[in-house]
Amino acid sequence: MVRAALIIAMLLASPAAIAQKVADPDAKAAAIEAQMTDDERFQLLYGLLPIPLPNLPIDPKLLKGIPAVAGYVRGIPRLGVPDLLETDASLGVANPLQLRPDRATALPAGLALAASFNPKLAFAGGAMIGGEARAFGYNVLLGGGINLARDPRNGRNFEYLGEDPLLAGVLAGEAIRGTQSQGVISTVKHFSLNAQETLRSYLDARISEAGHRESDLLAFQIAIERGQPGSVMCAYNLINGTYACGNDHLQNEVLKRDWGYKGWVMSDWGAVHDVSYFAAGLDQQSGAQLDDKIWFNAPLKAEVAAGRVPRSRVSDAVRRILRAIYAVGADWPRATQPIDYKGNAQVARTVADESIVLLKNEGILPLAKSTRSIVVIGGFADIGVMSGGGSSQVTPVGGPAAIIPVSGPGLLSTFGRQLIIPSPPVRALKAAMPKETEIIYESGYDVATAAARAAKADLAIVVATQWQVEGADAGMALPQGQDALIAAVAAANPNTVVVLETGNPVTMPWLDRVKAVVQAWYPGQQGGEAIADILTGRVNPSGRLPLSWPVDETQNPRPLIAGLGAAAGTRITVEYREGSDVGYRWFAANGVRPLYPFGYGLSYTRFEHGGLTITGRGDLTAEFMVTNAGKIAGADVAQLYLMAAAGKPVRRLVGFEKVNLQPGETRRVRIQIDPRLLASWDETRHSWRIDGGRYTFALGTSAETPGPQESVTLKKRHYPVSLDRTR
Ligand code: BGC
Repeated sequence: MVRAALIIAMLLASPAAIAQKVADPDAKAAAIEAQMTDDERFQLLYGLLPIPLPNLPIDPKLLKGIPAVAGYVRGIPRLGVPDLLETDASLGVANPLQLRPDRATALPAGLALAASFNPKLAFAGGAMIGGEARAFGYNVLLGGGINLARDPRNGRNFEYLGEDPLLAGVLAGEAIRGTQSQGVISTVKHFSLNAQETLRSYLDARISEAGHRESDLLAFQIAIERGQPGSVMCAYNLINGTYACGNDHLQNEVLKRDWGYKGWVMSDWGAVHDVSYFAAGLDQQSGAQLDDKIWFNAPLKAEVAAGRVPRSRVSDAVRRILRAIYAVGADWPRATQPIDYKGNAQVARTVADESIVLLKNEGILPLAKSTRSIVVIGGFADIGVMSGGGSSQVTPVGGPAAIIPVSGPGLLSTFGRQLIIPSPPVRALKAAMPKETEIIYESGYDVATAAARAAKADLAIVVATQWQVEGADAGMALPQGQDALIAAVAAANPNTVVVLETGNPVTMPWLDRVKAVVQAWYPGQQGGEAIADILTGRVNPSGRLPLSWPVDETQNPRPLIAGLGAAAGTRITVEYREGSDVGYRWFAANGVRPLYPFGYGLSYTRFEHGGLTITGRGDLTAEFMVTNAGKIAGADVAQLYLMAAAGKPVRRLVGFEKVNLQPGETRRVRIQIDPRLLASWDETRHSWRIDGGRYTFALGTSAETPGPQESVTLKKRHYPVSLDRTR
């Protein structure tokens, strides 16, 4: 823990303030835009996928010398406007199909970062990725994935930051700030409600205005206020009947008018279906060859010429793009630079160490040094760790340990490959355990052999994996017979530990028969080392669940994934009736207990919480004490929940803080409570309304285990739609 704190301090001190921002980006943007020809203006309004594609071929001369990144917008050299070279994403500089030679530091999954509950790590990770992007010469990072986890089977949850708007918003905001500190523009995405991958481009996500404002939109709002991202990426799906990228209400009214957002809206790749999206607030068409037309070139020019779209709107879109470039300082000359891979590996290690969640431990962990023999079974643990697939896929330093084809129709024909990151847990465990401990690996391919090996060892560790990928959702069961493998090993050896490398919660029918369960998510390029750190106790586990872990599918608001198995192109509607009661809030509102609640995670030490006070009349401040009452150092995630609002039972995380404590140490924690977390969205008054009455708060070790409580009485009050103090 001390080591982690040191590393963070080092990282925070070093992110060289290399971004050269201008004092008044709006003025500079206006001045440059005024000098443009119309052709130059339109040139900034669409991006290309700089890879030869059959459907809308692009003059190869235009792509000459452009690396195979996700997006390319041609700059205007005579005015010093740089090319925009856009790369994915939040887990590292992505290179999903190894089309480029660059190798990048692979961070753990976004969900893992969320499990760290540590905003400083989010900043450090964002700065690390931004620094690498810059070193490769890319000035836009398509990061900031923040869609709330409304379904534990969503194939992209691993890229996102869990189910809570405060946690997701704060961490995304910090990651964005980190990236932009390096002079690299970050997005926040996918705006909004892209909550499942199945039929994502044909899905109409239906939700009430209040439900949306208090959940996914609140996460975006908090992230935008904190991180000031240069761009917002709109989503594939429809929202209440209108495609996200053509959604006037979301883009013009909520984002640009209510929140006063000054950056630009870029589309997701292949999400533009009509030129009218421009008037509806979309500023730039991305990966334009994936759409039917390059809408924001000739068709948009025709609209302007016919007077159907005002010229001022074109200037507005261009200025928004330029403003982001100057505000972030992204107009540097493209030149590759060396990368401190060793230093960056430390960031990956620290995130992984802080993100692993100890779900169950019946006195077996940390591993006793006296253990004579251990068999590690399955999960490719002899060669590396699992990673998640799709556009966010990083090709790690050292290259993939293996690529296992999955294949399939649609996006899977491209992204259907499991990439194993070369950080083998077996090697790390051998290095971390005494030389005398015999550690062998068994693939688990044959259940009988694995069980026989387990029977002969002091202890068995089964590593189970679940690969998830953009473009597809997955059921909660571990695939490929791994449940049967775990059950057979547990039957053969009572000292069985399960390590999960999954992108989501999974069902655990064998839970009662194993002694410990460690959730390692997709742990990134130091994942093997981090798993060994937790198993051996070199690091005291401090990850907490950033999403509820249901017993099984039937506990979800929607037991079935809408449209699963339907033909591509089938239009579906999903009613998000839970509104803002996402995840733990839904469980609490319905009186259902998940297997493990949001915020839950064990430690090798014990923490106590007390002395809660709440002060203030509108803007409330909470203070309380956290004590490490155990015998070893560790980090706690102190969590403050709202239990009743104006006397009515609710459950909302209103504050959290990660606290490193030596044994016996006590620390006072102070949390400023965002009034929106106490409020409801009042559609009639178009503001946040706090009803008069009693507000009860509790310090919890999870959303389901409220501890000491404190109440205050508040008067009815309205807060404006935006609390962005930077506006
Ligand atoms: C994804 C985006 C990504 C884009 C560019 C899309 O498929 O949804 O998250 O940024 O591709 O790679």
